[in-house]
Amino acid sequence: MKIALIAGITGQDWAYLAELLLEKWYRVHGIKRRASSFNTERIDHLFEKQHFHLHYGDLTDSANLIKIVSDIKPDEIYNLAAQSHVAVSFDMPEYTANTDGIWTLRLLEAIRIAGLEKKTRFYQASTSELFGWLDYNRPEAGYTEQSPMHPRSPYGCAKLYAMWIVRNYKESYGMYACNGILFNHESPVRGETFVTRKITMAVAKISLGLQDTIQLWNLDAKRDWWHAKDYVIAMWMMLQQDAPEDFVISTGESNSVRDFVNWSFEEVWIQVEWKGIWVDEKGYNKENGKLLVEVNPRYFRPAEVEFLLWDSTKARKQLWWKPNYSVRKMCSEMVSWDIEKFKKQEILKKHGYEILEQYEI
Ligand code: NAP
Ligand code: GDD
Repeated sequence: MKIALIAGITGQDWAYLAELLLEKWYRVHGIKRRASSFNTERIDHLFEKQHFHLHYGDLTDSANLIKIVSDIKPDEIYNLAAQSHVAVSFDMPEYTANTDGIWTLRLLEAIRIAGLEKKTRFYQASTSELFGWLDYNRPEAGYTEQSPMHPRSPYGCAKLYAMWIVRNYKESYGMYACNGILFNHESPVRGETFVTRKITMAVAKISLGLQDTIQLWNLDAKRDWWHAKDYVIAMWMMLQQDAPEDFVISTGESNSVRDFVNWSFEEVWIQVEWKGIWVDEKGYNKENGKLLVEVNPRYFRPAEVEFLLWDSTKARKQLWWKPNYSVRKMCSEMVSWDIEKFKKQEILKKHGYEILEQYEI
């Protein structure tokens, strides 16, 4: 039985990856930081599984990490943990550098200190945010593994360091270490402050009469969104090759935030009519003229990645990876999930249980 260690256990990707590995008969260990309240909603259903183990740890704590790696002696490590919010990285640049950059070094060093550099295979959750700067000469081509990198946020800069330290440890110590350069992937358990989930939650609430409008920022930003379920398969495949290589994982389809808003409202039979431009743009219910969407410059990022489109030909050829979902199907699943969630919350409220409101970014 193979042993896998996954950092970032309470996150979106962990939930899908852990399920996949348990299905493949792995013993799965996860690192979770201590929280003052319950935050394991995404993985509660896994707690009873025989081969599933949790360890307390933090991205800033090397000693604890060395102990976990030495004790478990994992065959595979998936480094998914990070301060993963781009906008927040502008507010907490030093912390983001520490957790998203230096943490990767800590993990690689832990493998070396434990003497596991020839045994343990290492996956780094790298990101499309490394590129960040559209090549306006050939936008339709998308980015590849060879495209120049130009991160546009402290998050992107920290992840760029992480990517290179992984490459350096591969070259210096012969470790099986690789970067999965992944595009935006979403799901019903996506973090609630990322734009897709923020939209689907708001649409669900509006359709149930619990909210009136949603405030967003850059409606023109384009992303290659896909379902996280498809992407965790690529993560696993990257660690099953003869030799470690970096791969771009994407679908090659880019859509705007405005498109995602339109699709989400269509799921609840509402057509959005757009009026105005830029910060004055607003979305109205076409049927009754009610305001649904407005732009709030509060969410402005000091530098923005406007457009992301990727070319993952290499992964499709070498890993035989291909996406199975469609972005519309994913959107539909997210809206339905949120409607059910809020319906349940309303029933609980009616019976006297208090529900904590989420804050938004
Ligand atoms: P996520 O939902 O934000 O999960 C991040 C995980 O890291 C959470 O479990 C979080 O714990 C943990 N974490 C953060 N700071 C920590 C600390 N100081 N100590 C211990 N744990 C800490 O992220 P995701 O969407 O699953 O993404 C997984 C990875 O892929 C991240 O590295 C992200 O940067 C990268 N990535 C994501 C995408 C995407 O579109 N989803 C695309 C490219 C790359 P808490 O729950 O306690 O906060
Ligand atoms: N979060 C958020 N909230 N984003 C908004 C909003 C809003 O109200 N309004 C517009 N946007 C725009 C952002 O400015 C950005 O251009 C786009 O929507 C997507 O924002 P996010 O969903 O926050 O994701 P991201 O692309 O910045 O980062 C995600 O994907 C990266 C991979 O490309 C994260 O998951 C990163 O961890 C990941 O590396």
